[in-house]
Amino acid sequence: MSKLERASFGSKLGVILATAGSAVGLGNIWRFPYMTGQNGGAVFIVIYIFCVLLLGIPCMISEFIIGRHGQSNTARAFRIMSGGTVWSLIGYMGVLTGFLISCYYAVVSGWCLEYVWASFLGHLHGDPEYIKTYFVTFSQDPVKPAFWTLIILLATYLIIENGVRDGIERASKLMMPTLFILLLVIVGASCMLPEAEKGLEFLFKPDISKVNGDVFLSALGQSFYSMSIAMGCICTYASYFSKSTNLPNSAMQIGVIDFFVALLAGLLIFPAAFSVGVNPDSGPSLIFITLPNVFQNAFGDPTLGYIVSVLFYILLSMAALTSLISLHEVSTAFLQEEIGTTRKRAAIGVTVACMVIGVVCSLSMGAWSNVKLFGMTIFDTFDFVTGQLFLPLVGFLTCIFLGWFVPHKIVKDEFTNMGTLRNGTLFHFYLLLVKYVCPICILFIFLHQFGLI
Ligand code: PFF
Repeated sequence: MSKLERASFGSKLGVILATAGSAVGLGNIWRFPYMTGQNGGAVFIVIYIFCVLLLGIPCMISEFIIGRHGQSNTARAFRIMSGGTVWSLIGYMGVLTGFLISCYYAVVSGWCLEYVWASFLGHLHGDPEYIKTYFVTFSQDPVKPAFWTLIILLATYLIIENGVRDGIERASKLMMPTLFILLLVIVGASCMLPEAEKGLEFLFKPDISKVNGDVFLSALGQSFYSMSIAMGCICTYASYFSKSTNLPNSAMQIGVIDFFVALLAGLLIFPAAFSVGVNPDSGPSLIFITLPNVFQNAFGDPTLGYIVSVLFYILLSMAALTSLISLHEVSTAFLQEEIGTTRKRAAIGVTVACMVIGVVCSLSMGAWSNVKLFGMTIFDTFDFVTGQLFLPLVGFLTCIFLGWFVPHKIVKDEFTNMGTLRNGTLFHFYLLLVKYVCPICILFIFLHQFGLI
């Protein structure tokens, strides 16, 4: 497809919902609530809001600028912006990061599908030990998780294959509003439970004593991951934006949606958990072990518990799917444009590659758990390399590149839509953040996680 005929989103709403679909994912529903509870409640939320405003949104705008300016996949967009210099490598790293994440994100998204199925069949019913064994047995099974990984990748493929407007945009317009409605319904049910206020207290009670350097760094890392920054997704989606899309406004709206979904997820999980006296756990066990227990006990009426449980896992699967679509699109657009093949062939190539690596990641949780790379399982290695190495590196380099090396006129033209938006003052503030604040903060996270500061 030539540059002129390049696909684009059809409406402003499409832009916001598709990009918010990428941002809203497992990170919001399972990671944010727990981090908030553990890191000082309301204080963490305030710190997190600052991170979104001062770090997440400027980084998102930077990716918007590069993607829309290049009107092409992430690697080519960086190449165009950098005039083919060594800075192009950041784009390739972004594509690689997006691809590697999609492989293991598909595995966890597959678990969500299994839980939709299991809750629908009423299999998530029993004492806490049974629910725990269910998860452990399932995640270590050689066939079932791999099967669901393939299914979610197939669903992703079917959406991607239909193109940007008929596939990604349409799916986002359908799934995102459904997700909000489900979320609100379950939050309502959860907050009306007896002793729900204990959960609200856990989530919101400001506890200054828990605030230390780690809390700031956790908030920074979470804001990055949650907003899908530094993995090629935002840049790729921005290449489908129209020249009239207001980039800073869109980033702001997406940041706000992403934050509110995370907050609502907390309002869903904690009141329900505390009302049955269950201490919320972290990581996979919160979603796949604690919550099934909570759902079956919290709502008194077993039918209500059953309905909430099915709806919750549908919600979770949709959030995961819209993020997975954006991850898949990074590599699909890359293959399509760099190899010069059709969208369908590119999408098949990416799907098959993700399936193979996804199944390997899935097996590394059970049958192949003794296969270690750098002392970690394959799944954990992927998580580490992408989340701890590539993500901060790509984010840091993108800020340095855009803030210090790209002529400010190009950046400003994109930021202000060729001067039509009259947001020149905001531009100077943005530039200040991208030149100094963002790179320094990202460098801190990077060095801190290796114990270097
Ligand atoms: N932002 C997604 C979440 O919060 O779960 C995860 C994600 C999606 C990360 C897409 C990166 C990405 F490129």
